[in-house]
Amino acid sequence: MLVCSCNFITERDIEQTIIDLLNEDCWQLIVPAKVYHAMSKRGRCCGCFPNVVDIIVRTSERFHAERHSTDEEKSVFLARLKQFQEDSRRADLERRHKGHRAA
Ligand code: FES
Repeated sequence: MLVCSCNFITERDIEQTIIDLLNEDCWQLIVPAKVYHAMSKRGRCCGCFPNVVDIIVRTSERFHAERHSTDEEKSVFLARLKQFQEDSRRADLERRHKGHRAA
C-alpha cells in the first residue's frame, strides 16, 4: 500500500527501514524524519507522517514482541513510543487548527 504519494513509498518499504534501524539499535526512538533520512528521502507535504508514526508503533511493537527483551525494557520503550505517538497526534491537530484559522 502506498503511504507517501510525494515520494512513492510503500508501507512495506517503511516497515523494512524501521526493522533495519531497530536491528542497529533496538531501543532507539524512531521518528518519521529518521525513517525518511535512512531511505534518502525527505518529507515534502508531510501529510503521510501521522500514518508513518502508526507504522513505526506497530512495527516496533511487533519487533519487540518477537525478541527476548525483559518486560520492563519493553514497557519503558513502548511507553516512550506511545508518548511520541500522542505528541505527534496533538501537534498534527494543532497544526490543522491553526491552518484553518481565519486571518
Ligand atoms: S505524502 Fe509523504 S511527504 Fe507528502
